[in-house]
Amino acid sequence: MTASHFLDSEVRSYSRTFPVVFDRACGSFLYDISGRRYLDFFLGAGALNYGHNEPRMTQALLAYIERGGVMHGLDMATRARNAFLDRFHEVILAPRGLDYRVQFTGPTGANAVEAALKLARKVTRRSTVLAFTHAYHGLSLGALSVTANRYYHDGSSPRSATAFVPYDGYLGKDADTLAYLRRLLTDGSSGLDHPAAIIVETVQAEGGVNVASSQWLKGLSSLCREFGILLIVDDIQVGCGRTGPFFSFESAGIEPDIVVLSKSISGYGFPMALNLIRPAIDQWKPGEHSGTFRGNGAAFTTAAAALNFWADPAFSTRLGEASRLLHNELRHLQERFPDLGLSVRGSGMIFGLESSSPDTNRQAVRECFERGMIVELCGAERSVLKLLPALNASNEELRLGLGILGASFEAVRQKTAPLAVAAEAR
Ligand SMILES: Cc1ncc(COP(=O)(O)O)c(C=O)c1O
Repeated sequence: MTASHFLDSEVRSYSRTFPVVFDRACGSFLYDISGRRYLDFFLGAGALNYGHNEPRMTQALLAYIERGGVMHGLDMATRARNAFLDRFHEVILAPRGLDYRVQFTGPTGANAVEAALKLARKVTRRSTVLAFTHAYHGLSLGALSVTANRYYHDGSSPRSATAFVPYDGYLGKDADTLAYLRRLLTDGSSGLDHPAAIIVETVQAEGGVNVASSQWLKGLSSLCREFGILLIVDDIQVGCGRTGPFFSFESAGIEPDIVVLSKSISGYGFPMALNLIRPAIDQWKPGEHSGTFRGNGAAFTTAAAALNFWADPAFSTRLGEASRLLHNELRHLQERFPDLGLSVRGSGMIFGLESSSPDTNRQAVRECFERGMIVELCGAERSVLKLLPALNASNEELRLGLGILGASFEAVRQKTAPLAVAAEAR
């Protein structure tokens, strides 16, 4: 027995779902130490939107290392940092007419959320922050306080000055959750203090792939303006093209006060996080939100190279095609298994499959893994199967994944509902 068998803490989780030792990776595929291949439709929980070890990023990284580029730079100016900022302005912000300052935070999504909450409270001098039912914003104490799922709260961690309100669709598709929020904000006796900020995911990825409508997001944005509340969009998982456009809120035509990005911003899996801040609220004192790892040269280098995808309009066109293919194939899957009660939701290259019995998806994830595919569950009861293929996956890879998914549902059906199968055969 080696140390790896007993040293790893109980807190590990994905190694339990995928109990093999991974070794290499390329594009949409992971390989374990025996050389077995796995199609990866989980991609580091959305940290690898362009797949594993994307060749152009690898080249940029190797060149940077070979010339002795600065690897750790705190927040000092480095060539790599400046190159990323220039490219981000040129390819992402300027063409969209967006005016934001960029704050590099500590390299995790949670740290960027912490910074966003701190800044909103500092600027507005209000303490309450509103978050939504089924929200996930990370697990450090501040971020955890706006994360909804009870699984992550054992009662010992304080939820500092936060309140949860219903997300779009939470009360059924006809209920107007914004009207409820407006009532809370206008009624001086509602018990709710005027909040510093509202933090929202346009698609709740961990929460079960719940998609907010553009109309709802627009309404939320105007409500924030009306009451002087800062709007924070957490685009950590569904930004960087996951829903189609670079920012997930683009299609709603809103401009949040703070945008939180992490996961796929470095493009290559390097830890990196940043907040985009409306200039008027960039009221930090120098070093007020600091951290040792806010200037990783490798991450800046691959992040700048990743933006090359967005400089090419063909990338977005192809992404749209891939999204339509995925959506159509998923609808076929839904029709193929009427007895499993599957429903499909999502946008761009993030889709969730819910089934009438939560166990179906839990078993399907295991069946997929046995057939060489990595997918994960999400949602309050971990009953929604989430698909996050690479944005640049080929049609063959997408069809391969859907084929494995179909075979897996078939296996689940045969194991759990032999009577239904027999009835269908008659
Ligand atoms: C929307 C969202 N916010 C915040 C986080 C936390 O990011 P990290 O795990 O890097 O702290 C995640 C991670 O899954 C996320 O999906």
